[in-house]
Amino acid sequence: MDESRIVEVEESHLARVYHRFPICIRRGRGALLYDVEGRRYLDCMGGYGVSLVGHSHPRVVEAIREQCERLIFCHSSIYNDVRAELVERLIEIAPEGLEKVFLSNSGAESVECAIKLAVKYTGRSEFISMVRGYHGKTLGALSATWNPKYRKAFKPILIPNFKFVPFGRLDRVEEAISNRTAAVIAEPIQGEGGVHIAPEGFLQGLRKLCDEHGALLILDEVQTGFGRTGRMWASEHWGVSPDVMCVAKSIAGGLPMGATLARSEIMDSLRVGEHTTTFGGNPLACAAACATIDIIIEERLVERARRLGGFFMELLSNLQDLRIVRDVRGLGLMIGVECRVDIYNVLMGCIRRGMIPLYSGRNVIRLLPPLVIKEDELAEAAQILEDALREEEQKIG
Ligand SMILES: Cc1ncc(COP(=O)(O)O)c(C=O)c1O
Repeated sequence: MDESRIVEVEESHLARVYHRFPICIRRGRGALLYDVEGRRYLDCMGGYGVSLVGHSHPRVVEAIREQCERLIFCHSSIYNDVRAELVERLIEIAPEGLEKVFLSNSGAESVECAIKLAVKYTGRSEFISMVRGYHGKTLGALSATWNPKYRKAFKPILIPNFKFVPFGRLDRVEEAISNRTAAVIAEPIQGEGGVHIAPEGFLQGLRKLCDEHGALLILDEVQTGFGRTGRMWASEHWGVSPDVMCVAKSIAGGLPMGATLARSEIMDSLRVGEHTTTFGGNPLACAAACATIDIIIEERLVERARRLGGFFMELLSNLQDLRIVRDVRGLGLMIGVECRVDIYNVLMGCIRRGMIPLYSGRNVIRLLPPLVIKEDELAEAAQILEDALREEEQKIG
């Protein structure tokens, strides 16, 4: 199919629920994507954080191919070798105390499980979530998600028991928490909400308040997990272990998978049949996830994210001189460039120059490149972003 036909078919028959970029991608390798005409793009969107080990990493490809030939599907009601291998690997790298896993298929599903776990384990039904927090769009996850734009139309059927407090304000959490609180849920770094890093002491404070009130601390590491921020888990930057952790996105090298990790006694509060999903823990995704975790460890991608993150931030710090740039912030290879203007033209300027960025709302450019990106590719991406920002600044005058 040629580009115009692809666009026509997708526009005519797919639900119009995504902001579309004017590009049509056919293949990718590492941090590079190629469109149907063979044009090369640096991928700083990183599949919304999915493509942590790069596109079509040869080891992921091989693991999927091998598993495909052996067995594609096996329901979780039957034991399976590759599922057991994944669980072992996950527990090995998990934050201290998280020893049980529920496998699902997406970030939102990993949050659904966390919400149900908190209710089941504590016998309580109130939650505290963060202003600008994002946890997905299924009904439970959407109830924990702050953005009124996503919630408005569905408000009558959302769970009403979520109180939203400003991210970083422990005093407000202290006011909101009580012995009716089942859990506090937060991202260590808010991704969709604009790349906001938890201020020093905030996660430690949440941990303490949860312990004092018998509430669970759920950390959503769907976007920040698996080394993205220069630690295996972003919570490690603050030395905090959650009771429940949600992961997804990059876990299976590009195949759909979510996982909810919890302390044993919490996960054990769920009885047989109370929470299941047909495709959760399927061998194909598990094989891809095993390969992905092996790559992260063997290619030392966590350290690489830390090192390259420092390098990239240094290059991007030049941008602070531009009048339209308000702030450049981030940890590892999760970076936000906040602008004083609507960033639409800047995004298009980057794409025209061969780099695909991501955004958080209308004025934060979010960069989530694969951790395997090379230094010269990062330098090229930084230059493209600078050129696109300068062009916009000149246009505005
Ligand atoms: C922190 C966080 N939680 C949950 C989700 C939802 O994940 P999914 O889109 O796979 O349902 C996202 C997706 O962007 C996310 O960033």
